[in-house]
Amino acid sequence: MTVTVLFAAPEDNWDAYEAPLRTAFAETGIDARLVRDAAPEAVDYMVYAPGGTVQDFRPYTRLKAVLNLWAGVENIVTNDTLTAPLARMVDEGLTEGMVEWVTGHVLRHHLGMDRHILGQDGIWRSGTVPPLARDRTIGMLGLGELGGACGQALARLNFNVMGWARSRKSIAGLDCRAGADGLDAVLSAAEIVVLLLPLTDATENLMDAARIARLPAGAVIVNPGRGPLIDDAALLAALDTGQVGHATLDVFREEPLPPAHPFWAHPKVTVTPHIASETRPKSAARVIAENIRRGEAGEPLLHLVDTAAGY
Ligand SMILES: NC(=O)c1ccc[n+]([C@@H]2O[C@H](COP(=O)([O-])OP(=O)(O)OC[C@H]3O[C@@H](n4cnc5c(N)ncnc54)[C@H](OP(=O)(O)O)[C@@H]3O)[C@@H](O)[C@H]2O)c1
Repeated sequence: MTVTVLFAAPEDNWDAYEAPLRTAFAETGIDARLVRDAAPEAVDYMVYAPGGTVQDFRPYTRLKAVLNLWAGVENIVTNDTLTAPLARMVDEGLTEGMVEWVTGHVLRHHLGMDRHILGQDGIWRSGTVPPLARDRTIGMLGLGELGGACGQALARLNFNVMGWARSRKSIAGLDCRAGADGLDAVLSAAEIVVLLLPLTDATENLMDAARIARLPAGAVIVNPGRGPLIDDAALLAALDTGQVGHATLDVFREEPLPPAHPFWAHPKVTVTPHIASETRPKSAARVIAENIRRGEAGEPLLHLVDTAAGY
């Protein structure tokens, strides 16, 4: 039977996703009608991203699942009109990109690259040789698809990686913690802390003044997770006292980051414009096709969001 798949992501995503989705549907053997417009009661599956045309899901009475294009779901999970299952994006390309970005930014701070790259002024600064990764502790907050992969990549470089998640994980090469005590232990040891948590009621402002104060003096914060994980005012204060040595931030409470925001001009802040990684259409289309195949075969969907937990 033909299933109707509504592409309800913003218009400018269509060009990138149309061909990969059609190819993936054909390769998966799905008989799908991929459309950008349909009578709501005719739609079986919805490919979704925030900023599209659909805000009210109630008219979509036949909807079997909403398949989110992005990993983060904070913009849809609180939508009370959505009662169909919601799957988030887990995409090998997205994960690979995040591993590269996190590894690059961690190595920048670990090796103190700025001191040498920015000091090309004819002055021979007899600096110190960076320590080995084995003598540096990284804190990975969030040990899901992205945090787990980034933590393992850093562990393969010999970093001492301590991780923290809601549930106690067992990941080869990582010292995994959970709970409030676990967070304290990770924060008090982490010279570089990476935030790869989803934004939920429980994680908003997780990095507040008290938690930032637990970090070793001069620690670096790398945030490719979500802006509101950090209390901005507390971070700015900690940068000014030297409690935080540098913050590399890819995500912000307001995006684009407003031109007047103090992060832009702060000498100890690196701003990147939410480019840590993104869903890659070709591999992501295969994930979406596989979920539709599963839905039609009566098999459990992959990567379902726990709406009560918010991620
Ligand atoms: N900047 C970018 O370009 C970009 C790109 C993609 C994604 N992201 C962000 O990265 C986030 C993580 O993605 P993901 O695919 O790795 O998500 P995920 O697989 O759902 O993993 C989330 C991790 O956070 C942990 N967690 C959630 N709530 C927690 C809490 N209250 N206390 C402690 N740990 C908690 C989870 O613990 P459990 O393992 O116990 O469930 C899990 O380990 C996304 O939500 C998104 O915001 C950013």
